[in-house]
Order: sequence, then C-alpha cells, then structure tokens
Amino acid sequence: MSFLEGRVAIVTGGGRGVGRTYALKLAEHGAKVVVNDLGGDAAGGGSDDLTPAQEVVNEIKAMGGEAVVNGGDVSSWDNAREMVAQAVETFGRLDILINNAGILRDRMLVNMTEEEWDIVVKVHLKGTFAPTHHAANYWRTESKAGRQPDARVINTTSHSALFANIGQANYAAAKGGIASFSQVAARELQRIGVTVNAIAPRAETRMTAGLREWTPEQLERRDPEWIAGFVAWLASAEASHVSGRVFEVWGYGITVAESWQHGPSCEASKDPSVLGERVSKILKFARGNAGINPGEWLDP
Ligand SMILES: NC(=O)c1ccc[n+]([C@@H]2O[C@H](COP(=O)([O-])OP(=O)(O)OC[C@H]3O[C@@H](n4cnc5c(N)ncnc54)[C@H](O)[C@@H]3O)[C@@H](O)[C@H]2O)c1
Repeated sequence: MSFLEGRVAIVTGGGRGVGRTYALKLAEHGAKVVVNDLGGDAAGGGSDDLTPAQEVVNEIKAMGGEAVVNGGDVSSWDNAREMVAQAVETFGRLDILINNAGILRDRMLVNMTEEEWDIVVKVHLKGTFAPTHHAANYWRTESKAGRQPDARVINTTSHSALFANIGQANYAAAKGGIASFSQVAARELQRIGVTVNAIAPRAETRMTAGLREWTPEQLERRDPEWIAGFVAWLASAEASHVSGRVFEVWGYGITVAESWQHGPSCEASKDPSVLGERVSKILKFARGNAGINPGEWLDP
C-alpha cells in the first residue's frame, strides 16, 4: 500500500515551484490531488493562465494518479470555500490542505505602497486563513458525525519572517503571521483530529531565481524535491503526533524552529524615569534575536 493511499489533498499554488513538486510527490505516493493555481506572474499580476496547474494534473494522470484543477484565488473567501467543496465532491473527502500559494512585492518600507502591502498580506495571510477555515468546518462536521479525521494543514512561512529580511516588511509580516496562525490553529483543531504545522522552504523557483549564483552542489540542495519529501511525510498518518511546529526545510536538512520564549525580566514601574537602568540590564542578559548579527540592534 502506498504511503498516502486513500488520502485526498489540496495544494494551493500547485502549478509551479515547490507547490508543483508537492502535488506530484503526494500523487506519486497515492494521494488524489486538487491542484489549485490562479496563474499569473510572481508579483500576483494576471490571473487567467491555468496552464501550469493543468500541466501538473496531466502529469499526475499520466503516471496513473487522480487530480483536478482548481483555478480559484486562495485569498477569496468564496473561492476558498468552493475549492474545499470541489475536493469533497470530486474525491469524496479531504485529508490534507497545503497552503502554499504566494507572491512577492519587495520594497523598503519607506517606499512601499499601500497596494504592495495589501496584496501581499492578503494573498499570504487571508490565503492561508480562508482555505483553513473552510476545510476546518468540513472536518468539524465529519468529527461531529462520528468520523474523526486524521487530517493535516501544512502552511508556508519563510526565513524572511523568522530572521527579519530587510526589504520584505509586507512579506515577512504576512509570513510571521502564518507561523503564529499555525500555532493557534494547531491548538484549536487538535480535538477534531487535525494537525497544523508550518514550513519555511528554501528552493530554487521563479520566486528566488537570480538572487544569487549557485554552485551545482548548492543548486541540487535547493531542489524543491527535498521539501516535497518532508511535506509528503508530514501529510501522512505517520506524522499524527506532530502539530504546532515550524520547520525549516531544504536539501541541507530539516530544522525545528524554536518559537518565542520568555527571556530575562525586571520589575515594572509606572514611573518611566526608573526604567532605563532596569531594561538595559535585562537586555544585557537576553539572547539576541535568532539570525540577527550581534551589534546590529541598538541595545547597549
Ligand atoms: N522558493 C523559496 O525559496 C521560498 C522561500 C520561502 C518561502 N517560500 C514560499 O513558498 C511558497 C511557494 O513559493 P515558490 O517559490 O514555489 O513560488 P512560485 O511563484 O514558483 O509559485 C507560487 C504559485 O502560487 C500561485 N499563486 C499566487 N497567488 C495565488 C493565489 N492568490 N491563488 C492561487 N494561486 C496563487 C502562483 O501562480 C504560482 O504558481 C510561497 O508561499 C513562498 O512565499 C518560498
């Protein structure tokens, strides 16, 4: 029996990049897949080119699998509901939701337009919440009917959020929001048999193309297949004990990102004049933010 036999998955943004690889990997291991993709360019412009998603569906069918195209916009409430309904109507159930669709509009925040902020936050943050909301409602109904799901939500965050990339305030805010959302969702959905995790992938796709020159070895480690292998495992019954986690994933390894922790603290005061000394002291003992070079902050 295949690893994901009998399971039904939605992969958003599954027409290209890492999403495409997830859809193919899940199908290769027996899942039936709804391949969602709006089409369009890497900045979210245009929306009528469904060819990439159709090509992925064709590839899955050619290897004897089952898949359908969904051309909805993940950040549309109605489209997200229809996408979940399509999975259930076409394949009879839904087990796996991979929220992967995304766009970039990089700019230093002083130059960033309202539109560049809004669209990036909408596609990533609402585009994760809306499908999760509708899928969770389906799973809650199943659970209430006595058919307890063993379901998965796999969200997509980014190093940009975890390690504060300059020039990506909109994207990092949205991706950081997705990491926090995943933790809350994991706690809320646990009782209905749904695990929720987030991954920060690193791969060579059109989104990252041209960022740097890679050696052939580096390029191999940035092959989306490395991430797809982990995603297929996380989607399987074997990973039912893993929830509320954020993983960094690429060909160099799988790393658990450890979240915010309580650090050193001092006595509070309603009088601001006594706080300078106290706060400077706890900052001396606090660990730096992960991934930020020492001295980059203005702490004493
Ligand atoms: N490639 C990396 O190294 C990297 C690093 C960190 C995070 N990510 C994240 O991984 C995910 C996939 O990125 P990628 O590199 O494969 O990019 P990509 O541009 O190759 O693929 C993204 C896909 O999402 C689709 N899409 C965009 N907006 C959509 C919408 N509103 N509704 C439906 N589909 C939509 C696009 O058409 C595209 O096919 C994104 O969330 C991205 O932010 C990627």
